[in-house]
Amino acid sequence: MNAPHPAPPRPTASEDEARRLDAADPGHRHLFHVPPADGGRYPQAAYLAGNSLGLQPLATRDELLADLDAWRRLGVEGHLEAQRPWLPYHELLTEPAARLVGALPAETVVMNSLTVNLHLLMVSFYRPSGRRTRIVIEDSAFPSDSYAVRSQARFHGLDPDETVVRLRPRPGEETLRTEDVTDYLAAEGDRVALVLLGGVNYLTGELLDVPVITAAGRAAGAIVGWDLAHAAGNVPLRLHDWDVDFAAWCSYKYLNSGPGALAGAFVHERHLGDPTLQRFEGWWSTEAATRFEMTPVSRPPATVEAWQISNPPIFSMGPVRTSLELFDAVGMTTLRERSLRLTGYLERLLDEVTVDRPLTVLTPRDPARRGCQLSVRIGAGSAAELAKRLRSEHGVIADAREPDVVRFAPVPLYSTFHDCWRVAEALAATVAEVSR
Ligand SMILES: Cc1ncc(COP(=O)(O)O)c(C=O)c1O
Repeated sequence: MNAPHPAPPRPTASEDEARRLDAADPGHRHLFHVPPADGGRYPQAAYLAGNSLGLQPLATRDELLADLDAWRRLGVEGHLEAQRPWLPYHELLTEPAARLVGALPAETVVMNSLTVNLHLLMVSFYRPSGRRTRIVIEDSAFPSDSYAVRSQARFHGLDPDETVVRLRPRPGEETLRTEDVTDYLAAEGDRVALVLLGGVNYLTGELLDVPVITAAGRAAGAIVGWDLAHAAGNVPLRLHDWDVDFAAWCSYKYLNSGPGALAGAFVHERHLGDPTLQRFEGWWSTEAATRFEMTPVSRPPATVEAWQISNPPIFSMGPVRTSLELFDAVGMTTLRERSLRLTGYLERLLDEVTVDRPLTVLTPRDPARRGCQLSVRIGAGSAAELAKRLRSEHGVIADAREPDVVRFAPVPLYSTFHDCWRVAEALAATVAEVSR
């Protein structure tokens, strides 16, 4: 790793512009640890990989240590006597998580990890019967979702190749149009048991029209669930008002809660307390008031907490709690406004760079159809190789998806206009050399 060194005086109009924009619109970078640069001439990395793993908030370490100290001082008594008692600890996360995704507290819980939650929710909400067996996903769904729905089909004795329908963009197009989904549902909806889509697509950065697709799926008689891994903390969500049946999201990307952090789950109010729904249960599925009566039969509450199974990992909850407090303090509306400014700026710079280079922006150009991520397809060479060079030669950390996509996510909490400028400058230098 190169030692950090001050930038040599190298004024260009656009770098000055980036600095001016940062001065006027500084965001909340001061609340995060930004990694040092591995290469290039700036001391800190230009970190554009928050769509993969968000940065650590400064507050996380002390808050986590305080929870650890409670265990050191109190042992088992911490369940009731810790400053933040462990038994009801998960409740501290419920309201801020609900605000983040536009849900009622009774509809929201933080638990497990994302794919586990999707499976637990599919136990309840994927109930194939008669002709209605299909699961609709995107062809470019994150592989974990594809594996999950295929295994659910097999679990029900169905052939995954016939059961899972993968919607593709039209020939020559990179992303799905809303009508591609709604037309399919209008034509084939009586065969569809479950629609399970990514709110923001992990590869292209496309934001789907969640309310319109949810309404179309429900009108067709299907259940509509959403994987919000790339949407939670990235774009404003109103899951309750949009009548979404269920959703799950992770907390390690835009929610900055650390690698493998706990995930969220949402079940719409209309399903809560429904005794006909199947669920897998454990002692955390029963109501808190009688949990320690140790009876053999559960009494699930009429909230999404009925989907909990095990007692929660307190040291994993701390970072989620700390992060959600930040989102509450800043607010999704403010973040989205800054996100539009930052991503719009990066888009403008990428347009200048890509004009003479074998690079194409895949992400929709309409800001209403994307979050903060812009995905770039490279026409030559390997995406991983390019990302490696961006990091080692320019200190730009981006995320490669082989064979040919590099993703850049200016995250409104901590990314800067100068980070975006560094991306464009690094691409200009690196791709020019590769394509010569
Ligand atoms: C869209 C999407 N779905 C699912 C996953 C898998 O998440 P997990 O390993 O937390 O279950 C990821 C991971 O990045 C993802 O991006």
